Amino acid sequence: MGVFFSILALFFFYFLFSISKRLLATPKKLPPTPPSIPIIGHLHLIKKPLHRSLTALSNRYGPILSLRFGSRPVLLISSPSSADDCLSKNDIIFANRPRLLIGNRMAFNCSNIVWASYGPHWRNLRRIATVEILSSNRIQMFSAVRIQEIRSLVKDLFRDSELGKSVVELKSKFSELTFNVMMRMIAGKRYYGENVVDLEEGRRFREIVKEILAVAGASNFGDFLPFLGWMDLGGVEKRMVKLARERDEFLLALIDEHRRRRNKDGFSCEEGEEKKMKKTLIDVLLSLQETEPQYYTDHILLGMIAALLAAGTDTSALTTEWAMSLLLNNPDVLEKAKAELDIHVGPRLLDESDLSKLPYLHCIVNETLRLYPVAPLLVPHESSEESIIGGFNVPRGTMLLVNVWAIHRDPKLWVDPLDFKPERFQGSEGVKEGLKFIPFGHGRRVCPGAGLAVRMVSLALGTLIQCFEWERIGEEKVDMTEGPGLTMPKSQPLKAVYKPHHTMLNILSQL
Ligand code: HEM
Repeated sequence: MGVFFSILALFFFYFLFSISKRLLATPKKLPPTPPSIPIIGHLHLIKKPLHRSLTALSNRYGPILSLRFGSRPVLLISSPSSADDCLSKNDIIFANRPRLLIGNRMAFNCSNIVWASYGPHWRNLRRIATVEILSSNRIQMFSAVRIQEIRSLVKDLFRDSELGKSVVELKSKFSELTFNVMMRMIAGKRYYGENVVDLEEGRRFREIVKEILAVAGASNFGDFLPFLGWMDLGGVEKRMVKLARERDEFLLALIDEHRRRRNKDGFSCEEGEEKKMKKTLIDVLLSLQETEPQYYTDHILLGMIAALLAAGTDTSALTTEWAMSLLLNNPDVLEKAKAELDIHVGPRLLDESDLSKLPYLHCIVNETLRLYPVAPLLVPHESSEESIIGGFNVPRGTMLLVNVWAIHRDPKLWVDPLDFKPERFQGSEGVKEGLKFIPFGHGRRVCPGAGLAVRMVSLALGTLIQCFEWERIGEEKVDMTEGPGLTMPKSQPLKAVYKPHHTMLNILSQL
């Protein structure tokens, strides 16, 4: 009987202890939240383009907002200090990625560098990407590839102008350029223009990549309302599975080709100009596979190649297109950039080693990335633990969206925020003040390709400004509205009037 009462008393005290703990605990202070609807949460407030409707919400309710996309809790951040809380102070907590259909179906069950959550596997992929693939040394090794591809674009434009053409559609030119640069770094092959080894193979792969970008930008309700997932509304999942299969077959064939051609030093490029280059990315990955075959499976190799292609091609091409559009709408800036090139480069073609002497060109690239960051909400992060952001409690498992587009256009942070004024970046003050300029993100998940991207965009822009005179078609300004898509494309592909610069005629005719 005594034992029974002791157990009862223990239960009683335990019960009292837990109740008082709850009552005494400071209540959780959650971030403000707009009114929501049962089941769908705030999905009804979301229109396309997403960054614009989220900006409208934060203008109304504040820079730290708690939202619900169906069953998924979302933290929406729209100020540098709260971005700092998430991406610097609580960097590790927010270093996970949410599991979305795109990561499951197109990134080997969220196991590639973009979609893997924080942990030893992601850290290893990130090390390979930053040390073996995107380090300054490696980027420098492929400098000749970028120069050749940009010169080949300039040569095409010149040849067309000699044949009487005066208008060019630049969107496709830029995407062909960045695609060739990336594929030559990855596999030592180009897929557009002259000396393309296998035209049909190139055509097929280009189609696959185009469709992948389209499907990646499509909304998938199953990500937020899991009970709809099995229905696969709009057939997004089916398309993803099919495209991922086609992409992987193609890339596996490329890897196999490299395997067959590899010599004892680990180089696979025996022919043409590539033999002068260093190892391609596939060579690097195959060397890793040889040393640790259990870890570096073909899936890991495929995942890395597909991630770099997806993250590195469209982003740089679209940024170059936005930059050219801004220059056409601001001829005074274009003139100033040309004057800088005339003074510091003179009558020869721009080289990458000249870029450090062209601060104004760099300001133009920064100002473009400020106004048109092609990842306007970064890539979604997810919290692995509860955290305090701006004094509010944010539960674990919350999806984080950082509205870089809104921060970059905030009138409290920027003078005349909607004006294109590259001068604001002179002396780089604009870049250093907190997290008010973060087109590549910040912290552990910051874009590892930023250095390559800035070089690619600057070199392309600089060379085009140097070689040709550019004008808009007619009096109307270039339309600057954003179209639908994952990486903020322009709604209308850019077309421009051009003619070779008289001072460059000699050089152009010798290309
Ligand atoms: C103008 C061009 C580019 C822009 C604006 C850009 C921007 C970004 C942004 C905002 C992120 C997400 C950061 C975050 O999650 O917080 C990202 C991630 C990434 N980017 Fe870029 N990027 C560009 C070009 C490139 C290039 C050229 C490459 C490589 C060839 C690249 C590779 C990656 C990879 C692998 C990730 C995922 C990193 C991770 O999750 O750990 N990007 N990029």
